[in-house]
Amino acid sequence: MDAKALETEAQSAIAGAASPDELEEARVRYLGRKSELAQALRGVRDREAGMTLNALRAALEGAVEARRAELERAELERTLTEDVVDVTLPGDALPLGHLHPITQTRREIEDAFLGLGYEVRDDREVETVEFNFDKLAFDPWHPARSHRATFFFDDNRLLRTETSPSQIFALQEHEPPVYMVSIGRVYRRDDIDATHYPIFHQFEGLAVDRNITLADLKGTLLHFMRTIFGPDRRVRFRTHYFPFTEPSMEPDVSCGICGGAGCRTCRHSGWLEMGGSGMVDPRVFENVGLDPEEWSGFAFGCGIERVAQLKFDFPDIRALWEGDLRVLTQF
Ligand code: DAH
Repeated sequence: MDAKALETEAQSAIAGAASPDELEEARVRYLGRKSELAQALRGVRDREAGMTLNALRAALEGAVEARRAELERAELERTLTEDVVDVTLPGDALPLGHLHPITQTRREIEDAFLGLGYEVRDDREVETVEFNFDKLAFDPWHPARSHRATFFFDDNRLLRTETSPSQIFALQEHEPPVYMVSIGRVYRRDDIDATHYPIFHQFEGLAVDRNITLADLKGTLLHFMRTIFGPDRRVRFRTHYFPFTEPSMEPDVSCGICGGAGCRTCRHSGWLEMGGSGMVDPRVFENVGLDPEEWSGFAFGCGIERVAQLKFDFPDIRALWEGDLRVLTQF
């Protein structure tokens, strides 16, 4: 074998390889197991020939590596200059959800009261007769105490029927002034229909300070209704009864669909019922050890589903609980 001639031929094949594939071909041909060089190396008898052939192999291997590096650099150079990447193209759209209408409404309610300096509370859903009824001055005969109306675990423990127990917690935790709103789930043994569901959400407000009057309650609710429903809304009170307020009122907000003129949504009255409210009953103050002569306050409570239904104008409360995305994605 003519080592010199082989080297010349191999070096020019390596240097002339125009792609990684061609280079690999040349490497196999001149350095592979079946190459002339490999066979010659296997047949070597004397030291000098061995040294010559090993030096030739090392030289060719070095040349292959050098050429490989060159080709890679050239390829990188090419993609950097030739390939055009438009970084402004929109990416693949990921399916992205959004907040449930109840959560959206809940957050708006929280924001409205945070803006008034109220503390937001989130109290327990498993309640005792003491906090759900007794301390709130429910009379022994009140129908909500019945096992037919309320989910009881035993004679003492139940699923809270309202967020009103938060009034007691807030007043027991620290001395007034107290300005708080409590938001969360409540439970009642109601049959399911378009406006009733055994689980729903309420928000409960309480303001206790010195010299609080009914005018403060009405002004606060007016501000709230306008924040949630728009600046043209009006508020009116109808007298009512609740165990823990005296006097008690049901607030109405003027209908946003007809502007108060009367339409189907407001059953032609011009007004929409928005829960309950009133001045904190002296018995509640006594139950938490506060002097009703020193402190006064107001409270109000309302269903979040009710607010959401009016805000988003959908007719059936069940849609809020069934999780049907064809419905929910519209809000
Ligand atoms: N807890 C009452 C209910 O669930 C609503 C309510 C009425 C809350 C009057 C109040 C209030 O804070 O003052 O029907």
